[in-house]
Amino acid sequence: MMEHSLPNLEAVLLVGGLGTRLRPLTLDSPKHLLPTAGVPFLAHQLAQARSFGVRRIVFATSYKASMFEPVFGDGSALGLELVYMEEESPLGTGGAIRNAADALTCADDAPVLILNGDILSGHDVGAQVREHVSRQAAVTLHLTEVDDPTRFGCVPTDSTGRVTAFLEKTPNPVTNRINAGCYVFTRSVIDTIPAGEVVSVERQTFPGLIESGALVLGYADQAYWLDVGTPAAFVRGSADLVLGRLSSPALPGPVGESLLLPGADVSAEAKVDGGTTVAAGAVVEAGATVTGSVLLEGSVVASGATVVDSVVGKGARVRSGASVRDAVVGDRSVIGAGNELQAGIRIWPDVTLSDCSVRWSSDI
Ligand code: GDD
Ligand code: MG
Repeated sequence: MMEHSLPNLEAVLLVGGLGTRLRPLTLDSPKHLLPTAGVPFLAHQLAQARSFGVRRIVFATSYKASMFEPVFGDGSALGLELVYMEEESPLGTGGAIRNAADALTCADDAPVLILNGDILSGHDVGAQVREHVSRQAAVTLHLTEVDDPTRFGCVPTDSTGRVTAFLEKTPNPVTNRINAGCYVFTRSVIDTIPAGEVVSVERQTFPGLIESGALVLGYADQAYWLDVGTPAAFVRGSADLVLGRLSSPALPGPVGESLLLPGADVSAEAKVDGGTTVAAGAVVEAGATVTGSVLLEGSVVASGATVVDSVVGKGARVRSGASVRDAVVGDRSVIGAGNELQAGIRIWPDVTLSDCSVRWSSDI
């Protein structure tokens, strides 16, 4: 990787979104800081950016803006220089890029990397930047293919890789190829975005550039890619990192079926697999089953309980015989015995679902 590194490349990291789809996890944290395979989500993106030669990153913050700097500081521990820019009210993705660009130091003709801050990607950023530079593009978008493009920016290209349209969240996608949320902008092109205004890079800037005849390129590949902006994707991403489906320099332990952080209390008679992370102070009792999930600090999965593809919040408890699948249990909530949570249900913090009267035990 390093032989393709790009010394002195600057990046803007978009981290101002509300993370609505990840509530209640994002009620008191930006999604970008949620513990993912044992570390704040962005630790993976930052370590990877550094491995591609990025040395200076400007955070474009808005929602819970003050929470980022205490976690990452000036970046020196990561071998990076980090700068924090804040929007008083959210400026949208384009407005955020324009606002953060005030803190860039590179020349007008230099390439600048722009990263959505909720993406896990194994693509070769160096190759994307080299393509941008060699073809003297205005913007080069990383593109990937997904089964359901309606939730993303649909991006058709011609045979030379030139982007011919940008259709954000269209109900009628013309291709499965979508905007993967990693752009290379020529520095001077950022200055064409109006300052101090709410601007969507997807709905305004990209369509405008294409319309004006500027060269907007697609860099398409088949590498691992995931937007972790929904609970299902978030647990999938965390589990994929633990299982080694995407390598991350920030993973705090060896790749394997589970990541048990120091201070996790997991019974030898529990089944914990599928890339599950168990945080400090979390307890998994004998006879419990936990698969593909994220157990946050101080949570408890009791004997005979099952947790699959779910997040169990800080200090939350899943009691004996309860089953939690494809769900989020908010901090300190209690899922009483016999309850069955499934299909995307999200329980807010401090909720208690009492034990069910239905008998759940195997001796019925
Ligand atoms: N600073 C700042 N200000 N950041 C913002 C703002 C804002 O007003 N609005 C959103 N962001 C950040 C989010 O925090 C996130 O990191 C990124 O911009 C993208 O926002 P999302 O809310 O995650 O958008 P999305 O996932 O629905 O769609 C975007 O990403 C897809 C790929 O995952 C679009 O870029 C799509 O075109 C793309 O396909
Ligand atoms: Mg997203």
